[in-house]
Amino acid sequence: MSRKLIAGNWKMNCLKGSGIALTRSILEGVQAGVVPAGDTPGGVACDLLLCPPATLLYPIAEIIARNGIALGGQDCHARPSGAHTGDVSAEMLADLGCSHVIVGHSERRQFHGETDEMVRAKAEAAHRAGLTAIICIGETLADRDAGRTLEVVRGHLLGSLPAGAHAGNTVIAYEPLWAIGTGLTPSLEDVAVVHAMIRQGMDGVVAQSPQTRILYGGSVRPDNAAALLRVPHVDGALIGGASLAAADFLAIAAHAA
Ligand code: PGA
Repeated sequence: MSRKLIAGNWKMNCLKGSGIALTRSILEGVQAGVVPAGDTPGGVACDLLLCPPATLLYPIAEIIARNGIALGGQDCHARPSGAHTGDVSAEMLADLGCSHVIVGHSERRQFHGETDEMVRAKAEAAHRAGLTAIICIGETLADRDAGRTLEVVRGHLLGSLPAGAHAGNTVIAYEPLWAIGTGLTPSLEDVAVVHAMIRQGMDGVVAQSPQTRILYGGSVRPDNAAALLRVPHVDGALIGGASLAAADFLAIAAHAA
């Protein structure tokens, strides 16, 4: 997979003013050529995706539509509509112009009790609505210390992938929980081993598995992005904290070109 995906997960951050300002700064940076150009006229050499909170999807869609930056939700409900107070369906995200949705982020798994079955149902919903599901998987520090990283990550992968997943509608994001928001990252060797296992684990389960993108996430910053993005089978990054500063997000994207 040559073209990388650089995705910003804003989590529960930004009000209208700051979210719009951040989006405009990112767009201005792209238009100023901060991210190297790609093959298509006016396009950049990697795919850029912003996943703001649901409250900001509409205004941000208005800004980035037709500007080559994709929009994604951070979660969706498994059902298309109904009595689910506070939830947002994949169809609603698609209606606002989203092309992607993150499902099974560790913060959803940890703090909202989401299981592999629930994540799989959400990924199925994303596909039903025509969205690409970014399925997050990753081990805890306790799993890692117990030598269970590969077993746990493989379990998440196989448990969360729906039937019908293919390279065009599915992205896997490997995010070790202990690396999220901590400034810690696994060694490049460890990232390589896990990503190679994920690639192999998708074989026979995901159509076009060699072309299916596998992102790394967890404390990606401008100063470690170049090395992480060069690891075999790292096809992009899912970025939390550093995606809230336009300069950092763009600097990471510049390494993905
Ligand atoms: P982080 O978050 O970049 O702040 O570590 C990544 C994520 O949770 O997606």
